[in-house]
Amino acid sequence: MCGIVGIIGKENATEILIQGLEKLEYRGYDSAGIFVSRDDKQEYLVKSLGRIADLKKQITPEVQGTIGIGHTRWATHGKPSEGNAHPHTSNNRQFILVHNGVIENFEEIKEEFLKNFQFEGDTDTEIVVNLIQHFAQTGMTTKVAMKKALTVIRGSYAFALIDKNDPTTIYVAKNKSPLLIGLGDDFNVICSDAMAMLNQTNHFVEIADGELVTVQADKINIEDEKGNSIYRESYEAQLDLSDIEKGTYPYYMLKEIDDQPTVMRRIIQEYTNAVGTTVIDEQIIRKITASDRIYIIACGTSYHAGWVGKAIIEKMTTIPVEVHLSSEFGYNMPLLSENPFFIFLSQSGETADSRQVLVQTNALGLPSLTVTNGSGSTLSREADYTLLLHAGPEIAVASTKAYTAQIAVLALLAKAVGDEKGNQVSIDFNVAHELSVIAAVMETIIDEKMVISQLVEKYLTDTRNAFYIGRGVDYYVSMEAALKLKEISYIQAEGFAAGELKHGTIALIEEGTPVFGVITDKKTAAHTRGNLKEVESRGANNFVIALASLAKETDQLVLPDVHPLLTPLVSILPTQLIAYFATLQRGYDVDKPRNLAKSVTVE
Ligand code: AGP
Ligand code: GLU
Repeated sequence: MCGIVGIIGKENATEILIQGLEKLEYRGYDSAGIFVSRDDKQEYLVKSLGRIADLKKQITPEVQGTIGIGHTRWATHGKPSEGNAHPHTSNNRQFILVHNGVIENFEEIKEEFLKNFQFEGDTDTEIVVNLIQHFAQTGMTTKVAMKKALTVIRGSYAFALIDKNDPTTIYVAKNKSPLLIGLGDDFNVICSDAMAMLNQTNHFVEIADGELVTVQADKINIEDEKGNSIYRESYEAQLDLSDIEKGTYPYYMLKEIDDQPTVMRRIIQEYTNAVGTTVIDEQIIRKITASDRIYIIACGTSYHAGWVGKAIIEKMTTIPVEVHLSSEFGYNMPLLSENPFFIFLSQSGETADSRQVLVQTNALGLPSLTVTNGSGSTLSREADYTLLLHAGPEIAVASTKAYTAQIAVLALLAKAVGDEKGNQVSIDFNVAHELSVIAAVMETIIDEKMVISQLVEKYLTDTRNAFYIGRGVDYYVSMEAALKLKEISYIQAEGFAAGELKHGTIALIEEGTPVFGVITDKKTAAHTRGNLKEVESRGANNFVIALASLAKETDQLVLPDVHPLLTPLVSILPTQLIAYFATLQRGYDVDKPRNLAKSVTVE
């Protein structure tokens, strides 16, 4: 959600900030703004409700500078408006601040320190920039005043601050919200995500929670909470610009759906050796093998991938697996087993709901693995182990390739643990080979996407609701299929256990209600077909997605057979395309759905 960029030491600060904010648009936002200043003390603050394109319309040629900060806002306190857009200015106009996150005690701060201050907007951020002014007015330097403010505020933040009396430095600090420093030759940059500044540098330095960094054109200085200077090696971002360009695609989502066969093959390369043996860090395998229960913690699409992961891991390892929503687990932790092992699934690696659970499991000294697309992300850095998805940047808010990548990586992990457990596990399963079969099957489905587009026109053009139903893994896929459809087409879709419909929800079935049945499991196929008959006899407009070996003449989509443990990797694909085409046909923005952010870094 939302984003921060900053630059110091280049003549075209405005252009660099705008380009950076455009690269962060995928994260979701409602307003944006920049502040730039030049050595001749010319300074410009430009903010706009709406898109970056709206902000650019307000930027005239003289808006230039050699130092600047920019922000895309995803409102948490105060409605989306130009006045609430960042950067925010202190009362005496000296300090300029941008912020990602939520200040929990902003009202107490206002009450205790800022009684004589005026506020232009309704945000928690404006409290912080004035708190810094408050401390600076007692004689503290800007750095000391900012450090003091950090001891007072509670909550999540990524801050970038400029003192207009000293436009040679950007002051940077973070807690829970992501922020990076990018290193250039006689210039330096700041960004929420390396992607935003890849065209300036690909050398980045991580910042840890609680540190304060002063960023100047020719140097940076990192200080810990005690004021000790810290040296931290930079790392090279494993991204390249081609990964984050749409190319000829109309939307990132379609590019990322089409990417999935390539991602499967990349995962095989990354996690198996020349003879097809799974290659995963021995320590992870040993830790999981020694555990008596695995807890998968995730949100949204990652949570749905977790349920498929549970089915595969339990079959391959005989270790019981529980799957929990991060936001529930964190506040209602269940009784844990004697030797639990935690797996955090997160495409971004920055989801606050999941991170707050990791803080708790770390405090309990429990072993954890993060499976993520975010190399160097918070959830990766703070877990004991990491397995990367190698899916390439996922820009569209609706997650697609990360879902199938998570399942593929969990299948490889399950295979490695199953092998470690030896004769307790009966299934002989060459995951690498099966994933390469999956990649080829994915390509056949992708090649038929226009068939799906025509079917969507028939089934979803004017409906207000829809259902996906299935049993077992077909139910787990139905949950994800429904989320895809509702989050971008705004059709009220539900993913339902096929056998449960008759216990109440079937009351919602009306004449023409679209019901998609997912059938890939031979032991439940007949029952799901029975449930489809039940809804059809009440007016439903059925759409059956079935594996070839279970298909009937009347089915709408027939998928080639694949290994029974990996069917979700192919059955999910048409549902991703169904969501994509339904959204296109309704004229909505496929990549940037309303109200949503790509990475939700607030709880
Ligand atoms: C899925 O399409 C959504 N974008 C959302 O549910 C997402 O999966 C969820 O916010 C979790 O994000 P993460 O995988 O980055 O933790
Ligand atoms: N809480 C701040 C606000 O509502 C920052 C939100 C964000 O992270 O964009 O303005």
